[in-house]
Amino acid sequence: MGLTRRRLLLLGGASLLGSCIAPGSGFDGAVPDAGELVLPFAQYPALAQPGGGVVLPGEQLVVIRTSATTAVALSSICTRDHCQLSYPQGSFLLECPCDGSKFDSQGGVVKGPATKPLAQRPATVGADEITVRL
Ligand code: FES
Repeated sequence: MGLTRRRLLLLGGASLLGSCIAPGSGFDGAVPDAGELVLPFAQYPALAQPGGGVVLPGEQLVVIRTSATTAVALSSICTRDHCQLSYPQGSFLLECPCDGSKFDSQGGVVKGPATKPLAQRPATVGADEITVRL
C-alpha cells in the first residue's frame, strides 16, 4: 500500500442480503481518507463464493462475486426513485422493494419501471478479499 493509495478496511456493518436493507446501518472500523474499499472474506464470507453479495448501505454500494476470479461493485440505489436495492444471495439480480425493478449483476435493467442502469465501480478479487476502487 503506497502513501498515495488510500484504503478503507470494512470490518463489519454491511448486510448480507436477502432482504431490504435498513438505511443508516453503516460500517465499523472505517479508516478515513479512503480511496478504495477492502472487503476481507473473513468479515464478508458471502463474497468468498460466486453468487454471494453484500449491500453496503453506508457506501451506497452492492458488491457481488460474479465468478471465481471476478466481482462487480454497483450502486445500491435504484435509478428510478432512489430506493435501497437488495441482493438475494445467489440470484445475480438486484431487486427494488419500492416498485419492483430488477437489475442484473452488470447493472443493466432487466425489469422496470426503472430504465437507467446502475453505476459501476472497478472491483478486483484477491486471495483473501475483494477491493473496490471508489
Ligand atoms: S424506486 Fe426502484 S422501481 Fe421505484
